[in-house]
Parts: sequence; C-alpha cells; structure tokens
Amino acid sequence: MLTRRPLIAGNWKMNFDHLRAVAFVQKIAWTLKDAKFAPTEVEVSVFPPFTDIRSVQTLIESDSLGFAFGAQDLSPFDDGAHTGDVSGEFLAKLNCRYVIIGHSERRQNHHEDDELITAKTKAALRHGLVPVICVGETSDDLDKFGASAVPVGQLRAVLAEIPADSEIVVAYEPVWAIGSGQAATPAQAQDVCAALRSVIAESLSPETADSTRILYGGSVKSGNIASFMREKDVDGALVGGASLDAEEFAKIVQFPRHVIA
Ligand code: 13P
Repeated sequence: MLTRRPLIAGNWKMNFDHLRAVAFVQKIAWTLKDAKFAPTEVEVSVFPPFTDIRSVQTLIESDSLGFAFGAQDLSPFDDGAHTGDVSGEFLAKLNCRYVIIGHSERRQNHHEDDELITAKTKAALRHGLVPVICVGETSDDLDKFGASAVPVGQLRAVLAEIPADSEIVVAYEPVWAIGSGQAATPAQAQDVCAALRSVIAESLSPETADSTRILYGGSVKSGNIASFMREKDVDGALVGGASLDAEEFAKIVQFPRHVIA
C-alpha cells in the first residue's frame, strides 16, 4: 500500500480579486514560515477565481512558495465558439496542477449533470491537469438513500469513461455540510471515502485506488481537521470558508502537529 501525501486545498469560490489574492497568499506563506512549517509532508493548493490565477502563479513561482494552485472549473471543449468558457489548455499554460470539477454549487446553480462532469474530467486529463472530482449527497438524498449511494453513483459515472491509470483527486463533500457549520462526523466521512475508494478499485484499478487522494469537504476548520485526518481513507480536505482566513487556513495545513495516531 502506498503512502498518500495529504492534500489541503482551499476553494476560494467567488472571493478575492487578484490584488487581494496576492496579499492573501503572501500572508499564508509568512504565517507558515513563522510557524517553521515547511509544506513538504502536506501538499497545499489554492483555487482562486480565474481572474486571479496569473497573479497567484507569478507570486508562487517567483518566490518559490511551494504551493500548488488550480482553477474552480473548466470547459469541456478545447477551443472555439464557447463564449465565457475557459479551456483546460489555457489553465495548463498557467501551470495549474489541479481543476475542481462538479462542485455541488455548479451541479445546483449551473445544472451540471454527470455527463457534463465526465466531459470536463476528460478535458482536464487531456491537458495534463489533475481533476478534483466533487461528489456528495444532499440532506434529502441522505434521508432517502443514506450517505454513500449518491456520491458513489456520481463517481461511478465519471470513472466509467476514463483510463484506469488516470491521476485524479476525489472530494467527498456532503451538500448539507457545506457552509453550514455542521460537518460530517469523522466516522461518516470515513465510511463514504472507503466506499468511494472501492469504486475506484472496481472501475479503474486497485493500484489507482491505493494512490488516489480522497478529500473530505464541508465545514472543515482548524478545530476538526485532525479528527478527519486520523481516518484511514481521508487523505486531505477541500476547505471553503476557512480557506479565506490566512491564519485559520495555515492552522489547518499544520494538522500533522495535532494528529495523535
Ligand atoms: P465550507 O468549508 O465553507 O463548508 O465549504 C466547503 C466547500 O464547498 C469546499 O469546496
């Protein structure tokens, strides 16, 4: 079994213009430096709005900050008459490593379905980007079907269409836990993440299942991150609100200092 490097990812959603983005990334870097925490054992990634990416890239690369960065969405198409879309090719040229796909806010507010999310995942892989595929159940789904059925179905739909050795990240984000202050329990997160890993083993391969990072997202804070990270199938977090506070985000990144095995 491989050791999976934990990934702490900050999804900024539609927050911070490019000027604030630069100041904010500098603040995270200084805070971690002051705390003498080098992000080597933990991978740190930020997901700014499209308009900030070039500025964030320039800062991270020129100051060798060691953070990864990515986009919050991409087009299923590579180029052409798609007004308002952003091609994976352009994101790859900006050295984005990751792209979030199928976040519940896009599934709900932009009516994205499994077919579109699959097409976007394929586009990301075509351009060498690592898709962060988001899945999760609403509170209605939870009542009707339990926790795993919907996220498992959403992931299965995408994995049916991609190569067995694809590098992907999966983010389990129960919709009822996003921005609600009511996180899943670590045991709930573990159960669903284990079910998702089995889907990867069946649909792709056992090796890919072993190496794929599965993140939990939904009201993650510095006070609960360590309890999630103790779970065997939780390999990191996709953080929303708490990723907009540099000190709080830096504390989350430093979770290994608080995890007692
Ligand atoms: P919160 O951390 O604000 O609950 O958001 C989670 C999320 O949607 C990350 O993608």
